[in-house]
Amino acid sequence: MADSETGQIDNVMQEDRLFPPSEQFCQNAAIGSMDDYQALYDAAKNDPDKFWGETAREELHWFEPFDTVCNHDGSHVEWFVGGKTNISYNCLDANIAAGNGDRLAIIWEGEPGDTRTLTYKQLLTEVCKFSNVLTGQGVGVGDVVSIYMPMTPELAIAMLACTRIGAIHSVIFAGFSAEAIADRNNDASAKVQITSDGLFRRGKTLPLKDTVNAALEKSPTVECCIVLQRAKNDCAMQAGRDYWWHELMEDASADCPALPLDSEATSFILYTSGSTGKPKGIRHTTAGYNLWTKKTFQWVFDWKPEDIYWCTADCGWITGHSYIVYGPMSNGATCLMYEGAPNHPAPDRFWDVVQRHKVTILYTAPTAIRAFVKWGDEHIDKHDISSLRLLGTVGEGINPDTWIWYHEKIGGEKCPIVDTWWQTETGGIMMSPLPGATATKPGSCTLPLPGVVPVIVDEGLHPVETNHGGMLCMAQPWPGMLRGIWGDEKRFQEQYWSTFPGNYLTGDNARVDDDGYYWIMGRIDDVINVSGHRLSTIEVESALVSHDKVAECAAVGRPHDLKGQAICVFVTVKDAQAGEALRDELRLHVRKEIGALAVPDDIRFTDGLPKTRSGKIMRRLLRDIAAGRQAAGDVSTLEDFSVLAKLSEDQE
Ligand code: PRX
Repeated sequence: MADSETGQIDNVMQEDRLFPPSEQFCQNAAIGSMDDYQALYDAAKNDPDKFWGETAREELHWFEPFDTVCNHDGSHVEWFVGGKTNISYNCLDANIAAGNGDRLAIIWEGEPGDTRTLTYKQLLTEVCKFSNVLTGQGVGVGDVVSIYMPMTPELAIAMLACTRIGAIHSVIFAGFSAEAIADRNNDASAKVQITSDGLFRRGKTLPLKDTVNAALEKSPTVECCIVLQRAKNDCAMQAGRDYWWHELMEDASADCPALPLDSEATSFILYTSGSTGKPKGIRHTTAGYNLWTKKTFQWVFDWKPEDIYWCTADCGWITGHSYIVYGPMSNGATCLMYEGAPNHPAPDRFWDVVQRHKVTILYTAPTAIRAFVKWGDEHIDKHDISSLRLLGTVGEGINPDTWIWYHEKIGGEKCPIVDTWWQTETGGIMMSPLPGATATKPGSCTLPLPGVVPVIVDEGLHPVETNHGGMLCMAQPWPGMLRGIWGDEKRFQEQYWSTFPGNYLTGDNARVDDDGYYWIMGRIDDVINVSGHRLSTIEVESALVSHDKVAECAAVGRPHDLKGQAICVFVTVKDAQAGEALRDELRLHVRKEIGALAVPDDIRFTDGLPKTRSGKIMRRLLRDIAAGRQAAGDVSTLEDFSVLAKLSEDQE
């Protein structure tokens, strides 16, 4: 049967470079061989109750023990039923009880260059005081606290204070508009807002409080607003509603025992955009989420107490929740937190930070790596970044050539790269190499972690063959999985559980190769169907990015009378002349890399691609533009409207 009938996706990318971890890395790693990985994987798969029951007892503090490891019935899942624990306790008190209270929890650097450090003991004091501040404002178990703050230690303090007292945080990335904040506040019925006067970005002060003031006019459920003084810009404070963080903290007691909370108590909601409709408030729990982030952090980053770990995400995204705050801190890790832009005051800022703080583990996004490639190697060459021992990526697929650059230029060919595939919904990493065990292949997130049981099916729900792409689903529950969409059970069922009943639908396509390695092929909605061949966006894009004049690329389909769809690519170039000659060169290049089938019909050069605020290319907007339509749908997550305006203008 043709792929167009089964809904399978053609695999057109050939990537056979293999990078085994060095012997030295394996020797020092907690999981140092594929046999160790396989033993763990099998234990979790064959007897999940035993595996997760033991792991949960070992890793988390239990005020009251659980009586059932997991209950599940399709989409309805509960883990560690009957138990009581507290995430904030596991991140703070537990580390202090283990004798690590004087270890640094946070090394923080502001964009202007100011720095601060907090030990676990100091962090606990701040968190307890702020917990009491929140309680003083009437916040209790189950109340929603909306957080819209710069990347300062206080952002982590606010999150940990909420989870300490059973309040539910909803962190909103501090680049969203007033409208977007109000939408989220209303959907969640937020009771309290936390923000700051301003934030520093590329040397400018952005007036966060002004944005919040506009949002609060349309957020009737919010009773009070706590404002951190960060940028010292003028801002309007409304008497009786707005309070300064530092004033409330002055009188707050540092005594606030963590509240024992049900395993399944909601710890936070985090809004993520759907391609259509309003943003969804993804709901996570207490015990399962905490355990998943703690274990996956250990497995994937092979974390050691002496590591200086830097995840460059913002706490406004799930990556910041799981791998700046909860995962690392429940292990007692030292986390670097940076406030600003990667190119301020100059494009070498990240490497300057790595050198000065002797960062050993760096976890960042492909969009950032592509920018570093474009900015030029000279910014890296200025610095000694030899402290790095492990690199990670998250958020999008990484094109193999970008991966090789990361490996050579940043990793000095000695650091393993963990390409981590996961989602806001999964709570933590699902597929990734284990750096001391897995030989990596550029562009593949390699193998599932223990507890993850993926299945790939075609549109008829039949498992696809090796090397054919299909819909990636999860056949078994895992502790970190989402438990719902806030206030919208119907959408939760429809979106994740109705396509392949009993299985979680990720919304991504993937294939497995001959070695059992997984390759993510992009979102299901983004597949391009050319003459009955279903092509994955990432494969076409990777072929183009492997051309040395291409910096970044997005491939989409547009309607075509004969072929069904034609391939349209949007390309940003390094410093080459964009024009007809380069178009011909790129067509030839794709023909050579993939074949005639994938040669783009339209090649459009552009200065930038429309991206979400977390750096993902918004292909759905490009599909509209490629088809000559007005870009439609929700654009609240778009980072830079001028890019879209320019692309639409070019069309006219
Ligand atoms: O399409 C996949 C892509 O990002 C989606 C999840 O996005 P979000 O919920 O914002 O979470 C981002 C941080 C985990 C996925 O469905 N994605 C994420 N990581 C990868 C990826 N695609 C390919 N490779 C990855 N490593």
